[in-house]
Amino acid sequence: MSEQVRGRFITVEGTEGVGKSTNIAFIQTLLDKANIPHIVSREPGGTPLAEEIRNVLVVPRDESMSELTELLLVFAARAQHLKSLIEPALAKGVWVLCDRFTDATFAYQGGGRGLSEAAIEQLQELVQGSLRPDCTLLLDAPVDIGMARAGARGALDRFEQEKQVFFDKVRSAYLQRVEREPARFAVVDASAELDTVQREIALALKPLIELYNGGAHG
Ligand code: TMP
Repeated sequence: MSEQVRGRFITVEGTEGVGKSTNIAFIQTLLDKANIPHIVSREPGGTPLAEEIRNVLVVPRDESMSELTELLLVFAARAQHLKSLIEPALAKGVWVLCDRFTDATFAYQGGGRGLSEAAIEQLQELVQGSLRPDCTLLLDAPVDIGMARAGARGALDRFEQEKQVFFDKVRSAYLQRVEREPARFAVVDASAELDTVQREIALALKPLIELYNGGAHG
């Protein structure tokens, strides 16, 4: 019996209000059309326990959360998500489309909070081993545009309550990651018209999707 080809791991990243949800729904339609079995998940969260940890992370409270607590909670949620959902799916050949992953940790806890990249890399190694996304779409837009969109959605969570300067650092950290690993990332200008954004997303995912349909699903 031939060995099961692993699923592909696609992540979608960006600062607040860049349109991740709308575009993740669009990517699902692309995968559906190509008959690619897939699941959609998000971080922090994705399993009942990881969603509880997400709640601790995002709900504003009187006691301020230390940067290190935040970092460890993000990776605690990720460890659970990987073990109970992501790894088993990929092993079965199911693609995983995930709203944020570890690039968000480098951007928010590293860039935004100023935690050391070395500390994040250590946890990445511990929690993920060699697992990395196959393709990461970075929806990039000027921070004020996204903040206005996020603000219009209603009550702000603990991260959304941060000031523009925090998100400027997050955005630059994302862009630095792209410079380091240009082959893994596709950067899409999320301030463009939705049609244009989705055309670019489809173009970025085309090679991966064609490879699935052209080869022995690999
Ligand atoms: P969301 O905006 O995608 O729903 O994600 C919730 C918040 O979690 C968002 O403001 C970014 C933050 N976050 C981190 O700070 N570090 C991480 O590693 C992840 C995955 C998310």
